[in-house]
Amino acid sequence: MKALYPIVIRGMGSYVPEEVVDNAFFTSYLDTSDEWITKRTGINTRRRVAKGEATCAMAIEAGRRAIEDAGMSPSDIDLVLVCTSTPDYQIPMTAGLVQHGLGLPNCPAFDLGATCSGLIYGITVASSMLKADSYDNVLVIGAETLTRFTDYEDRSTCILFGDGAGAMILSRSPDPERGVLYKKLGADGEHLKCFWVPAGGSLEPSSERTASERLHYMRMRGRELYKIAVTKMQSLVDDALQSTGLSADDLALVIPHQSNYRIIESVRTRLGLPKEKVAVNIDRYGNTSSASIGLALDEARREGRVREGDLILMVAFGAGVTWGTLIIRT
Ligand code: ACO
Repeated sequence: MKALYPIVIRGMGSYVPEEVVDNAFFTSYLDTSDEWITKRTGINTRRRVAKGEATCAMAIEAGRRAIEDAGMSPSDIDLVLVCTSTPDYQIPMTAGLVQHGLGLPNCPAFDLGATCSGLIYGITVASSMLKADSYDNVLVIGAETLTRFTDYEDRSTCILFGDGAGAMILSRSPDPERGVLYKKLGADGEHLKCFWVPAGGSLEPSSERTASERLHYMRMRGRELYKIAVTKMQSLVDDALQSTGLSADDLALVIPHQSNYRIIESVRTRLGLPKEKVAVNIDRYGNTSSASIGLALDEARREGRVREGDLILMVAFGAGVTWGTLIIRT
């Protein structure tokens, strides 16, 4: 099968902060339990940034590791794309800071915000720019510092989120059958208030009131979002297989976005795949939004679970709402 976008992943890298936040942290001050958290979400621990550390620093470290893994030098990179909903600053974009921090040339650098589907959007944008011959080596990073927007007084959300970054370098493939075989992206703004940060944007700027009303933290209608996520993720994987004529058994690995272990399991059972064919890191890292798929793919590569020529399916659903699926022959 010819690739829609003939690309190769030249190198990968990832980074998670040192601090481990376990479930006991939450049970020490909230009305919750280790059993509730693990049973309802699948999360045992998550990572949290240190003081002075944020999205840019994690993205730089993941990017540095990806460049090293590819055997490249910073001067080889000619486009940087940072997928994030939690930039260091409102202005300017994080990608420029990453470019400077890595000592890259003055190549274009921009952020892309598509919440948990961010990396899938980012890979698609980078691949189409590679196909158009505009660039040669694109550094795509999914990086998030969700813990800075987490309301640690809200037991229904604070247990869910973690920080991290996953990076990859994409280049054109001389083999027309390697690369992105299938892609589907979508969004539906109707569900805005299922998951949002009410203040701090141009509509509701920061003020004493917004701070005292805790409007700078993530708010979520979890049960509603859960239902939409399960239905959407299942239809996305159905569509991907139907459109390509592939069967689930053809896939070497499925990498779903990690928002809830029960959602991941619903995708796995829909596909009828054994557990070892579905990547999971939510148990250790929680929901890391646009970092989750990059973290999982880097780990799978290092463990030898993804080899050249393998088919991998990535699928994500996130706030907004947004969604995306990719099938890539590596
Ligand atoms: N500990 C104990 N009890 C709790 C906790 C907690 N931490 N949190 C909520 N509860 C209680 C609720 O108050 C409720 O009690 P009630 O029945 O007395 O009213 C009960 O547990 C059940 O609450 P639900 O919200 O129905 O729990 P649910 O099983 O839906 O799990 C969860 C909640 C984990 C948030 C789930 O809804 C979920 O994963 N939602 C989807 C998340 C998602 O898809 N995210 C993607 C986008 S995220 C992004 O873009 C960054």
